[in-house]
Amino acid sequence: MNNEYSLVFEGVAYSYPDTAEPALRELTVSIPKGRKTAVLGHNGSGKSTLFLHAVGVLRPQKGKVLQGGTPLTYSKKELAALRRRVGLVFQDPEQQLILSTPIEDISFGLRGTGMDEAAIQKRCLKVLEQLNLLALQDKPVHQLSLGQKKRTALAGVMAMEPELILLDEPTSYLDPLSERQLLAGLESIYAKGTTVVMATHDMNLAYRWADWIIVLDKGVCRAAGSPEDIFADGEDIRAIGLDLPLLADLWHSLPGRLTAGQTAPRNAEEFKAILKQLFSESGNIRV
Ligand SMILES: Nc1ncnc2c1ncn2[C@@H]1O[C@H](COP(=O)(O)OP(=O)(O)OP(=O)(O)O)[C@@H](O)[C@H]1O
Ligand SMILES: [Mg+2]
Repeated sequence: MNNEYSLVFEGVAYSYPDTAEPALRELTVSIPKGRKTAVLGHNGSGKSTLFLHAVGVLRPQKGKVLQGGTPLTYSKKELAALRRRVGLVFQDPEQQLILSTPIEDISFGLRGTGMDEAAIQKRCLKVLEQLNLLALQDKPVHQLSLGQKKRTALAGVMAMEPELILLDEPTSYLDPLSERQLLAGLESIYAKGTTVVMATHDMNLAYRWADWIIVLDKGVCRAAGSPEDIFADGEDIRAIGLDLPLLADLWHSLPGRLTAGQTAPRNAEEFKAILKQLFSESGNIRV
């Protein structure tokens, strides 16, 4: 049993009812514990299906899923316990939000844990503040914008303080400020030891945010590794229809003699600092 992985898929096969093509084709993949993992892949590659297996909503037709080193058993009791340890923020917040206001929705999950009312209120206020939702806490959910609904859905999952949090396309429809607030919220739970996994189509975000990348393609894992390794070879990534992150593309377009021996910068600040070093004051490149 390997406990340095939060989640392990061993040869998981799954086809949705009445479909010809399997969604997962004996998928074997591991999510490292205590890290930030981005799951990448084109539309229909199996990202959401993987997440639904992680919380036991879907059950493998072949193979198995292990969480915290233990195979899921799918008994009602164990599924309830699993969903306290593993939180999934759905791609579509409409699927997640069930009560009429953010505060009611966020506190609902906590009430199920038997926590006392004062502690529930305290926990709710903390996540509402973290995701900048305090002013919206009593607004009817159906009047919230899509981005506000997405942040409310995340707040509900964050409030449960799961050990593993899975976010399905969390930044789609978020404006830059909301994205920063969401990422800051994730950073705070990651700093406390939570394993954070995000499915995203945003290569630039994946590159600067994640410390582990998993690439899915037609229900199998095509690559897993550090962002530097995964995006070192643009050909491989483009071959499965994905783009290189802009910074990785620019970095690899520089002459090899300039980049040799240097770790590829993963954010604009690091990139600018390296460029400053490379250019002398007179504008000539120091080599
Ligand atoms: N409820 C469903 N019924 C039938 N087929 C489904 C269902 N949900 C997904 N599929 C199929 O399963 C495959 C994997 O879909 P999945 O939603 O896991 O992909 P994804 O990587 O999350 O895609 P996206 O980037 O569009 O969110 C696709 O071929 C899809 O058409
Ligand atoms: Mg999806």
